[in-house]
This record gives sequence, structure tokens and C-alpha cells, in this order.
Amino acid sequence: MTTAPTPAPQATWRIIDAPHGASLDAPEAWAYRGIAEVERECALDEFGHDDVAQRAIDVLVGMQDQRYLRRRRLVAVEDQPDGTPRVVGHAVLYLPQTSNEHLADGRVAVLPSHRRRGIGAQLAERLRQIAVAEGRTTAFAEVDFAHEPVPAEDEADDRVLVPPTGSGAVAADHPGMVLARRLGLRLELVSRRSVLELPLPDGAAERFAADARAAAGPDYRVHTWQDRTPEEWIEQYADLETRLTMDEPNADLDLLPERWDADRVRFHDAEHAAAGRGYVVTAAEHVPTGQLVAVTMLLFARDRPELSEQETTVVLPEHRGHRLGMLVKAVNLQAHARVRPATRRISTWNNENNPHMLAINVALGFRPAGGCAALQANVADVVPADVGAAPPAGG
Ligand SMILES: CC(C)(COP(=O)(O)OP(=O)(O)OC[C@H]1O[C@@H](n2cnc3c(N)ncnc32)[C@H](O)[C@@H]1OP(=O)(O)O)[C@@H](O)C(=O)NCCC(=O)NCCS
Repeated sequence: MTTAPTPAPQATWRIIDAPHGASLDAPEAWAYRGIAEVERECALDEFGHDDVAQRAIDVLVGMQDQRYLRRRRLVAVEDQPDGTPRVVGHAVLYLPQTSNEHLADGRVAVLPSHRRRGIGAQLAERLRQIAVAEGRTTAFAEVDFAHEPVPAEDEADDRVLVPPTGSGAVAADHPGMVLARRLGLRLELVSRRSVLELPLPDGAAERFAADARAAAGPDYRVHTWQDRTPEEWIEQYADLETRLTMDEPNADLDLLPERWDADRVRFHDAEHAAAGRGYVVTAAEHVPTGQLVAVTMLLFARDRPELSEQETTVVLPEHRGHRLGMLVKAVNLQAHARVRPATRRISTWNNENNPHMLAINVALGFRPAGGCAALQANVADVVPADVGAAPPAGG
């Protein structure tokens, strides 16, 4: 006798607030681990590697002290046969607390295996509702992509989107772009992601540093530190971070400068340490005034020995034109090679409309490796999702 196969139960999912676990060993840690797993799968799907994916510890540490940046986290979960929840998608809304309090910066990600079921749209709708309830007026979203398309030269090509800056491009049919534009967000800016393969050819960093040092002259000297900002420089370092938020070209993104102070620098140092991250910083001092006028940082997760990320690089406007950007970067690369000899690549993001920074990176050997599209809208103009598409279960 044959038994008719029982039809597989219709998979259902529901959206809940991500529970907070005090550590990654806590019972609730399934949520943060699941968020990291979704990010890893999305990164593998888009880039073929998980370099850009947040780790569970990054998610956890970000939730522990939110004094500068509050986060609302949602997870789309499916119950597995054994009753335990599985995260199949997640959404986060970043709510700045000390400046840019008008912003609601959102991200939605869904496992590739669970796409086109309405999960992304429902997560986005929940973020929209939170942004409204929080009184935020500007919505931001970013879409990471692996390949930058080349717009056709002679005709309008609606498969390729070019931001109003005219620099960079993104494919119109990229799922993140389709969803974001359907919600009413407009493309404002495209940043380029670049990767530098390590080790550099023998003597390359030394040559770049020596040439830049010769151009800069004796009025400048460099200081390098690791993992903890020396108290001697902390106020000045905070000022440079503030300047970066004032000077970085952000096109028409509704982004105001952020005031950094010594406490904020200490906060970030502690956050990096708690999340198992380390860094190497090189700064240039203008010797006649004792002022720090340029800085750059290479940041890394200790459990990702192959990768470091190029962060913050800034040169004060009145000291530009002395090759200080190249000087601090080349010296920092030398220091980094001593601290992390096994690292195989450094990745970085640059606004496509920041030609000076791009030129330094290209000279150092960074090669394009995809990009990031920044979109925005007034929160009031974000299109509500079709509530009829909501899943049957959950809230
Ligand atoms: C973008 C993303 C979140 C969409 O998740 P999803 O669960 O597939 O989204 P939905 O099923 O709710 O789709 C919503 C709408 O987006 C559009 N869309 C999504 N993926 C699409 C694709 N591959 N091709 C065309 N349209 C697509 C459609 O209009 C779709 O509605 P429809 O299915 O009714 O036509 C998912 O592709 C993803 O995680 N991408 C990587 C992360 C990312 O880029 N996030 C966006 C930045 S915030």
C-alpha cells in the first residue's frame, strides 16, 4: 500500500523585534547570530566573499551602548521543525542621537533563498513606521553592489542609473535598487569600493612615503599609534573627525556635520576593543604649531586576518597640497605591514566625486571592486507597503 505524501506545510514567516542577548552565548543570541548569517549569505551572493558582512559580535556590541547611534532591529523569522526560530531576513534603523537627529538610516536584507516573497517590502514598511513614530524626517538607505555598470555613451540607458553628481553608476535592476526606488527613495551618490592586494611590491610603501616626505618638507612629522588614541592627541584627533564630517563631499545627502569630542573617540576605541577590532592610525603634526593636520586609519577584525579596511583619511584644507594624504597613508601601510603581516587585502570606500582621494588610492594600487549607492527621501514621501501583502502570522 502506498501512502499519499503529505503536502509540505506552507512556510510562514513573521516579523518581530530582535531580542537582545547580553552576550553571544545568551539564549537570545540566535537573533544577532541570525542577522550576521543573513548578511554573510547576502554578501556571498553579491560579492562572492563575506568581507563586507557585519559579524554577530559587531551587531551585539553596537546594541550594547547606543548613546551616539540608537538602533531598532527587526528580524523576519521562520519556525523550524524543532520549534527554534530561524532568521530569514532582518532590518535595522539607525537613529543618530547627538547630531543629524532628523535622519532614519535603514537597511533591509533577506536571505537569497527567501527573496520575492514580500519579506523585504514588509521589513521596509516596519522601518518606515518606526521612522514616522520617531519623528524623523529624512530616510537614508544604501545598496552595496559588486559590479559598476558602464552607461551607454550615445543614448539614454534606463538600465543604468547615474546619480545627479554625474559620477559613478549602479544597475537599475539590482534588487536593492528596485525595492528602494519602489519605496520612493532617490539615488543621490555612488561610492566606489576599492581593494588593494597585499603585500605591496618590495619597497613600494617606503618609496611612496619617502617621496611624500620630501614634498611635505621638515614642517611635518608623523605619529603612529595602535588601538588606543594617546591622550596627548585625543582632542585634536576628535577635531579631525569633526572636520571629516564637514569636508567629505556628500552631494545633496541631507547630512549635517557631526561634532566629535575626546569622549566620543574613547567610546569608539572601547567599542572596537569590545568587538575584537584593532586599528593602526598615522597622523601628521605641523611642527611649528604643534597641530595635527592629517590622519588616516586602517581598521581590522582580529578574527578576519586576511582583511583590513581603510577608514577615515582627512587633511585639513589649509594644509592640502603638501602630499600629506599620501604621506600618512604610506606610513600607515608600513606600520600595518608590521602589525598584520598576514593580511592579504585592504578595502576602502570613496565617493566617486572625491577625485583627490581616489587619485591617491589609485596611485597606491587600489583597484575598483564594486560600490555603494546612497539613496534618500523625505520620510513623509516614503511609499507605504501594500498592507494586503502582509503575512498571515506575527505582528
Ligand atoms: C533588496 C532585498 C532586501 C529585497 O528582499 P525581498 O524579500 O526579495 O523583497 P520583496 O519580496 O518584498 O520584494 C519587494 C519588491 O522589490 C522588487 N524586487 C526585489 N527583488 C527584485 C528583483 N530581483 N528583480 C526585480 N524586482 C525586485 C519588486 O518590485 C518586489 O515586489 P514584487 O515581488 O511584488 O514585484 C533583497 O534582495 C536583499 O536582501 N538584497 C541585498 C541587501 C540589499 O541590497 N538591501 C537593500 C538596501 S537597504
